[in-house]
Amino acid sequence: MSSAAVSTLTTRRTVSVPVAPFELRAPRSTDGALIHDLVRRCKPLDENSLYCNLIQATHFRETSVAAEAPDGNLLGFISGYLVPDRTDTLFIWQVAVSKDARGMGLGKKMLKDILERSPDVRYLHTTVTPDNDASWGMFRSLARDLDAPVHTTVMFDSEAHFDGRHDDEVLIQIGPFELDDAGAN
Ligand SMILES: CC(C)(COP(=O)(O)OP(=O)(O)OC[C@H]1O[C@@H](n2cnc3c(N)ncnc32)[C@H](O)[C@@H]1OP(=O)(O)O)[C@@H](O)C(=O)NCCC(=O)NCCS
Repeated sequence: MSSAAVSTLTTRRTVSVPVAPFELRAPRSTDGALIHDLVRRCKPLDENSLYCNLIQATHFRETSVAAEAPDGNLLGFISGYLVPDRTDTLFIWQVAVSKDARGMGLGKKMLKDILERSPDVRYLHTTVTPDNDASWGMFRSLARDLDAPVHTTVMFDSEAHFDGRHDDEVLIQIGPFELDDAGAN
């Protein structure tokens, strides 16, 4: 299925993928409820409070991204921030892609969009549970595109940190990289 590029006055950049046209942009405060609903639909992501999503969409907007469909709904969202005292390290907090938009490259495109807006970043960190194949696949694929090494270690242990209420969260460290290595995709 083909898709026409979307263009609006607020559009920073237009992109097309087979699933639907969408616009990649920094999130804004009015996205809070949409982000909350999208994350709720994207299991196994942990839901945060709507207030937390509002903070992500405001204070952390420069290191986050929203993929907006022409009808105003969000097809995707990533929250991220620069690690305190490490301005060269982007921590990706959550990645959410709507079910019907998965497997089309949107998750990776959104990650690259944040990197393109973060010229000083040389490392990307995130945590993933051991059984989240889609997430592992996406971050390993990004590391390949960046031609960057990957290191993994448990950051938050199921027993020691989650009191057995949650799986391990494995820290994935990608880098160092130069963005030019990421290619156009
Ligand atoms: C994880 C998630 C964000 C991936 O988004 P996506 O848009 O479908 O991913 P992409 O299409 O960009 O895929 C990027 C790479 O990951 C791989 N991948 C995607 N889904 C996969 C799966 N289920 N199993 C293995 N690999 C997978 C793709 O093959 C692709 O690799 P390639 O570039 O070598 O072809 C999406 O599945 C999702 O929202 N899941 C629910 C929430 C979640 O688990 N978020 C991540 C935790 S932080």
